[in-house]
Amino acid sequence: MNRRRFLRGLGITTILVVGGAVWYADEEGAFSQEKGPAFAPWKDWNQPQTGMLALVRAGILAASPHNTQPWLFRVSGNQIEVLAATSRNTGGLDPFLRELHIGMGCALENMNVASCSAGYAADLELADGVLTLHADTSTPQRVATVRCTPASLPASPLYAMLPERHTNRTPYELRALPASFQQELLAVPQSLPNTNLFLFTAQEQRQTIVDLVSRCNDIVYADKAVREGTTPWERVFKWSAVEQHRDGITLEDYGVPTSAAALLYCMPTPIERAVIAQKAKAAMGAYPRQLSASPMFGIIAVRDRYSLNQCLQAGRLWERAHLLATSRGIAARPINEAIELIDIENAEGRPRVTEPTLAALIGNTSWQPMFMFRMGYATRSGSASPRRDLAEVLQQ
Ligand SMILES: Cc1cc2nc3c(=O)[nH]c(=O)nc-3n(C[C@H](O)[C@H](O)[C@H](O)COP(=O)(O)O)c2cc1C
Repeated sequence: MNRRRFLRGLGITTILVVGGAVWYADEEGAFSQEKGPAFAPWKDWNQPQTGMLALVRAGILAASPHNTQPWLFRVSGNQIEVLAATSRNTGGLDPFLRELHIGMGCALENMNVASCSAGYAADLELADGVLTLHADTSTPQRVATVRCTPASLPASPLYAMLPERHTNRTPYELRALPASFQQELLAVPQSLPNTNLFLFTAQEQRQTIVDLVSRCNDIVYADKAVREGTTPWERVFKWSAVEQHRDGITLEDYGVPTSAAALLYCMPTPIERAVIAQKAKAAMGAYPRQLSASPMFGIIAVRDRYSLNQCLQAGRLWERAHLLATSRGIAARPINEAIELIDIENAEGRPRVTEPTLAALIGNTSWQPMFMFRMGYATRSGSASPRRDLAEVLQQ
């Protein structure tokens, strides 16, 4: 496409007078957003639709903390061993690797959803274990085995949603979500042992969550170990880093519209880029405002937050809930700072101030909060995030 027309199509007109910057944009590949190889797994996710690799292709489209994609797959015979690449962690943000294992559960659920279309009945055997501080992260750990028996079964109604599901960090309309959808969501935990789901739509409860999550966000991201653990996953300075690593959080993930992100990635000097990235993050500073623009919040809870098995089940629940929301035209975003702060409090022996507020919301101390989210009708659609492809995640 003619470059000038393409830029206009993106709503970029001012850049046309800055010829050098346009040239730089091309070199950085900024305009190949959602078209370059880092986004190809979203396009060829079901080609071919059948066979064991179809399950792996579905798995790599799953959600993961900071888009770390902590998964590896070993395919042999009629089974797929799913391994956690524990070195792909967020450090001080996830000291027990709890969120990493939730991400593994998300990948497992995508595989489960794809299995019938791929020509199999899938049996998921999830590992047991207890998450501890300072786990060895030098070697990948098997967390599940997916056994596939050839079968002719109807496709999951969520199958077509696999490439459509994207975390959406834009403000949502305050319009209430249908009661029928809430009932469907509440039914999801029934088939996932040791999980439960709590939804919050009343104004007072929502305000409590907005205040709590905003406060926890400030505390968590002021922590040096958290910043050191998450900075390596930020891909906000150079588009070439997105293409090289095919993971992490991009400017678009921070809520910058595609056209503006394309411009920002073009900034010629590192200093300009740093200033812009800072501004993009400051736009996230509108976090309490964005949180307030949510008609519904949810908490996924389990019996034991540090059970490996229950982390996997919680991940399966989140992925299925997000796919279900996508199928109903409803946007979703995890908001996990309060539970991340519980991990930090536990890891550092700080006084536990966060858990009581969450326990009061749930009203039942036998369920431990594991994962929080917001849902609503989006004002803007979410965008695809980069993905490592088959070659990078398959193990011999
Ligand atoms: C365990 C877990 C925790 C997450 N926590 C947050 C969060 O607190 N805030 C947020 O905006 N996104 C969060 N995410 C969403 C990821 O950043 C997102 O899944 C990843 O960037 C990939 O993007 P996608 O979901 O659009 O494919 C979380 C995801 C997982 C699996």
